[in-house]
Amino acid sequence: MTFDLQKIVRPKIYNLEPYRCARDDFTDGILLDANENAHGPTPKELNKDSQLHRYPDPHQVEFKEAMAQYRNKTSAFKTTEPELTPLSAQNLCLGVGSDESIDAIIRATCVPAKEKILVMPPTYSMYSVCANINDIEVVQCPLIVSDNSFQVDTEKVLTMLHADPLIKLCFITSPGNPTGVKIDTDRIISLLENWDNGLVVVDEAYIDFCGGSTAPLVTKYPNLVTLQTLSKSFGLAGIRLGMTFASSQLSNILNAMKAPYNISRMAASYALTAVQQNNLQLMEQTTESMNIEQRRLLKELTALDGVDDQYVGGLDANFILLRINGGDNEMAKQLYYTLATISGVVVRFRGTELGCTGCLRITVGTEEENNRLITEFKKTLAQLMKK
Ligand SMILES: Cc1ncc(COP(=O)(O)O)c(C=O)c1O
Repeated sequence: MTFDLQKIVRPKIYNLEPYRCARDDFTDGILLDANENAHGPTPKELNKDSQLHRYPDPHQVEFKEAMAQYRNKTSAFKTTEPELTPLSAQNLCLGVGSDESIDAIIRATCVPAKEKILVMPPTYSMYSVCANINDIEVVQCPLIVSDNSFQVDTEKVLTMLHADPLIKLCFITSPGNPTGVKIDTDRIISLLENWDNGLVVVDEAYIDFCGGSTAPLVTKYPNLVTLQTLSKSFGLAGIRLGMTFASSQLSNILNAMKAPYNISRMAASYALTAVQQNNLQLMEQTTESMNIEQRRLLKELTALDGVDDQYVGGLDANFILLRINGGDNEMAKQLYYTLATISGVVVRFRGTELGCTGCLRITVGTEEENNRLITEFKKTLAQLMKK
């Protein structure tokens, strides 16, 4: 393998000089360099001490360092291997949710109206949305659906990647959405070791619900990018904070490319709180209790007449995917609609996704919410089955 990042990143981006501000050199004193409003926020209740009238830090090194250390500490891989140097802040770039990180990696690598990305349906739709916005073609290689494993078809993917040099990114969702299946690390490594014409992007939005992140591998594999988010396990979807783990070389490029102040002061402050030791422990406890609730939901709902005994996909994320009445899309849609409009419980119809005919995706809520869901689901489905 002879991976050369310069061949993968668009030339103008590769040579980009990052935006610099006076604050990169001086942060103290009377700050009259950035055309801020020194009188403070005009809503006076937003206390001047909060510094909201000042631009936020463009780098967020403290947060990045804490997150890198957490991923090192909880890594399934031994960082004693010489090529697996521990992650540091240098390996991270932050985005406005991983949705921005997805867009950034596409813009950094793919030439519009020419180059392509590969996605593996059924999967998260934002990869294709971002590709379309950027005029990038989307090539598909489905997950293995026939055996309900929803794993990556490594051989087929490699064949497609080798056959088409215009494919620059290979998106893997692990654990998958809507499948809930964590992709075998061996399969990801097989792609990394056998394809050097682009980047393998592993979207780990739900990784804390099962563990085993690939993030620590970015110091070994320069063609690996791992995306994570504070939106799921950390319960901070509202602050919009996504993380891209990559080699320090690629990370530098992504940091040079991003809007300098993309992470707001509020988001940065909440994010930093989230990675304090006690809060990391709390996050782990919460994901554990959600996993227990997930098993309970599953047991209750798969026991019902009209729900297939075997759930679809895996249990590696914070949701379940259930097949209604042997794959009955009409009934699944009706159930979805009635639950939302009559019961006030909103789940997601996924019946049009590959291998998910008749499926509803149900997020694990609080114990109370889950109880409500179970009651309403039972009642509504029984009515539909009688018709
Ligand atoms: C697989 C996957 N990736 C990324 C995201 C988006 O995450 P964020 O809130 O960080 O933009 C989601 C949200 O549902 C997701 O399911």
